Amino acid sequence: MGQRVALVTGGTGGIGEAVCQRFVQDGYKVVAAYNNEEKAKKWQIAQKEAGFDIEIVHCPVTDFEACGAALKWVEENVGAIDILVNNAGITKDGMFKKMPIERWEAVIDTNLNSLFNMTRQVFEGMVERGFGRIINVSSVNGQLGQVGQVNYSAAKAGMHGFTKALARETARKGVTVNTISPGYVATPMVMAIAEDVRQKIENSIPVGRLCKPEEIAHGISFLASELAAYTTGSDLSMNGGMFMH
Ligand code: CAA
Repeated sequence: MGQRVALVTGGTGGIGEAVCQRFVQDGYKVVAAYNNEEKAKKWQIAQKEAGFDIEIVHCPVTDFEACGAALKWVEENVGAIDILVNNAGITKDGMFKKMPIERWEAVIDTNLNSLFNMTRQVFEGMVERGFGRIINVSSVNGQLGQVGQVNYSAAKAGMHGFTKALARETARKGVTVNTISPGYVATPMVMAIAEDVRQKIENSIPVGRLCKPEEIAHGISFLASELAAYTTGSDLSMNGGMFMH
């Protein structure tokens, strides 16, 4: 077996960066898929200086054709993708009564339709090679439902159905499909919540603090590992006790 190739969408963001770094430590060839070229190029240099050799590729996850082109580039220049982490996501929070359709569509496109755009174009290769790990980064708010996040909660909940159905289709082919559901992680996305609202949320977390990105990366590292072969169609909740089921 050669060195495994892992691709992380939203790879230059809060959770994505921690996952990329962890995957380098795990011995994979790592590619961070990005949307913002200027940010990604600077990020790649900073990662290199910190000792993390990570390839980058432009990949707007809302665009099926563009995803296909990015995946082709990775296959040709890095190698066939063994591990796909569908991590790219956005929030466009607001009370439902004031939510314009654009905010609904943007979140569903980026957070849910992206799973189709990426996974559809890699999983057949995984099946042919007899090995694959597809890891979808959902959220505790897809399970709890969160005020001001009807769009986001719907998209994140949709990931579970996608995961469980595809997991059944690929179960005998060596390809696992799982979700991980982080709680509130200390990333720019969470820090963008108004201070008073965020404080109330933090006070409601049983563990009593925000999650560290590397704690989520640890869970993703497990789901990507060889020995996670028997874990498929599952959800790994890492939410500090916010939702127990
Ligand atoms: N339950 C029910 N109703 C509530 C409520 C609650 N917890 N909080 C507020 N409301 C009601 C208010 O009473 C008010 O009702 P009326 O209009 O009838 O008076 C209405 O909602 C509007 O309240 P606000 O004035 O506070 O609304 P706002 O427009 O200023 O703010 C918001 C709304 C932007 C959604 C704000 O509440 C917010 O930021 N909430 C946090 C959302 C959140 O958790 N986002 C997570 C982002 S990070 C992430 O998503 C990562 C992850 O996976 C965890």
